[in-house]
Amino acid sequence: MPVPKNDNVLVGFEYKDDAGVYKISNDSCLIQTVDFFTPVVDDPYTFGQIAAANALSDVYAMGGKPITALNIACFPVKETEKKVFNLILLGGLDKINEAGAALLGGHSIDDKELKYGLSVTGVCNINEIYSNKGASPGDILYLTKSLGTGFVVSAICTDFLSADSLNEASLSMSKLNKRASEIAVSLKSPNALTDVTGFGLIGHLSEMMLASGAACEVDLSSLPAINGVYELIRKGINPAGTKRNRKYFSKYVSTSKNVDENLLWLAFGAETSGGLVMPVPESKSDALELAFKNAEEPLRRIGKVLQKEHDKGTLIYLF
Ligand code: CO
Ligand code: CO
Repeated sequence: MPVPKNDNVLVGFEYKDDAGVYKISNDSCLIQTVDFFTPVVDDPYTFGQIAAANALSDVYAMGGKPITALNIACFPVKETEKKVFNLILLGGLDKINEAGAALLGGHSIDDKELKYGLSVTGVCNINEIYSNKGASPGDILYLTKSLGTGFVVSAICTDFLSADSLNEASLSMSKLNKRASEIAVSLKSPNALTDVTGFGLIGHLSEMMLASGAACEVDLSSLPAINGVYELIRKGINPAGTKRNRKYFSKYVSTSKNVDENLLWLAFGAETSGGLVMPVPESKSDALELAFKNAEEPLRRIGKVLQKEHDKGTLIYLF
């Protein structure tokens, strides 16, 4: 698609960023995003929470504050009890309230397959836009949530999944990236910011490195994972989205010998409502780590930003 030119568009879709950013005055901008999907868990209230947290996350991934939201609901009206729809919308509302945003309404249609999500509008200061661009050689890479939600979701209909793993994944997916984003932005720590969703850690890091003109290395053994996910991968649980990610993003990846194949799948794994990834200059890393620790927010060092070697296509070195 041709990218339309407009001087007020500060972040458009050319770098596959989390949300669009539009300048509305000399000092403030509007952040807009939309996201909806089919149920990832059986419990309708939890699904509503997850879908809303996932949609709101793209505003947090731009360093912004969500202010309004609209429901997008595709419901199989005849086949499903009305109670189910109510619970989904209540779960969503719960997260919109927690985000401090206002639900303004929405749109629903009768659809064979149930889908739910939000369109979210946020605001941010013009000097505080955090996009995929800006990662700089030497930056430390941090991740704020455990990986593996896609494997858990795919294993729901199998005998392999434990109640504990499902519970941990559900809590993680429904958790807002609000605190993590607020802390990082208040300290002005990150050089760039994104959230890990469908393209997986490798996919979203690739987009960030492409936009930043940099490369990075990731230590696979440092990746935080939901308990039990490694076992699911070993048992052969492998979502279609994850296979697509590996097929598409492998061209940017160089792996050292003897890397653990199962950890490699984890890194390519499609996520739902995943955590934030941020490259942070080493001089600001101690303060960031301390602030996350004090807030009891998880934060894991997973790698480092490197200079991109101009003769090579590699954006991510895995070891
Ligand atoms: Co995103
Ligand atoms: Co999105």
